[in-house]
Amino acid sequence: MRISLEEAAALLKTGEIVAVPTETVYGLAASLERPDAIAKVFTSKGRPSNNPLIIHVATIEQITDYVDNFPPFTKELAQAFWPGPLTLVLPIIEKQIPSQARAGLPTAAFRVPNHPLAQALLIKTGPLVMPSANKSGRPSATQASHVEDDFGSHFPILDGGPCTRGLESTILIYTNKWVIIRQGSLPAQAFQEILGYIPTIQMAENSHTPLCPGQLFRHYAPQASLSLSPKLQQEDAVLGFSDRNYPKPLITLGPSNDPETVAHHFYSALREIDIQGYQTVWVDTDFPRTGLWLTLLERLQKASQKS
Ligand code: TXA
Ligand code: MG
Repeated sequence: MRISLEEAAALLKTGEIVAVPTETVYGLAASLERPDAIAKVFTSKGRPSNNPLIIHVATIEQITDYVDNFPPFTKELAQAFWPGPLTLVLPIIEKQIPSQARAGLPTAAFRVPNHPLAQALLIKTGPLVMPSANKSGRPSATQASHVEDDFGSHFPILDGGPCTRGLESTILIYTNKWVIIRQGSLPAQAFQEILGYIPTIQMAENSHTPLCPGQLFRHYAPQASLSLSPKLQQEDAVLGFSDRNYPKPLITLGPSNDPETVAHHFYSALREIDIQGYQTVWVDTDFPRTGLWLTLLERLQKASQKS
């Protein structure tokens, strides 16, 4: 059900949850001040309670009351990338943020989204927690119809059109340097100019105490099984590029020389696999191992995991 900005703000204030567009993916929003609504976010997504949420705000000023201390370069990162697809995990004053939103951690994740409707809504409502608006484990939603497919046609949606970026925000945490704990719309090199170094990418699998709980779960996956092996075998279809020829039906990601367009189409293409009813799909991973392609490769690897 499509709703207006005013209706979305009113629902959020009364403890309801609403799908909200951002430039990355649609979010499933609840007011940070409504524990009942935050609980609904976890139950309606089927999200484990140990996977914390990102707190979205309209401006950096809105987070100063929550943060215990700002690690080096926080302000410079915020100035360079907010509003935009960057999430910063910061140490917080614990009594200021409901424990349930941050899964009991002494930190919280913050982002200022760059979408006019999300901005206008946040000004009306104050801080909103927003995980991606998909059922847990499913591909993220990058248009209103994807949200309807997962949550039903009566679910309240603020329709902001297709998300321009199409991949989630990049998440940084400060240990003794800034580290990427989830690859996203901003590639690692994007931070070199501000930080003077390229942050390393911390893979959850390599760590006993994961810095990003969400990275442990199966993600972004269609029902079909995806093969990332170098050669096409018996698969029903190909997830590949519009400028290449394949001997099986193609679900296109867009042109092989344009990672931004591929990112924009990515979750629609994953969802299209199930709409077409394919059981097995071969993925063309013959693309560069640089920049945004690395995020796309990581999403494909997650989507191809069996459980
Ligand atoms: O682009 C995005 O970031 C989208 C839009 C809606 O803003 N949101 C999004 O949220 O992707 P979600 O819930 O699907 O992913 C948030 C990730 C999870 O992997 C979670 O574990 C991690 O952020 N996270 C949240 N709080 C954290 C914290 N305090 N420490 C470490 N990781 C945290
Ligand atoms: Mg998600």
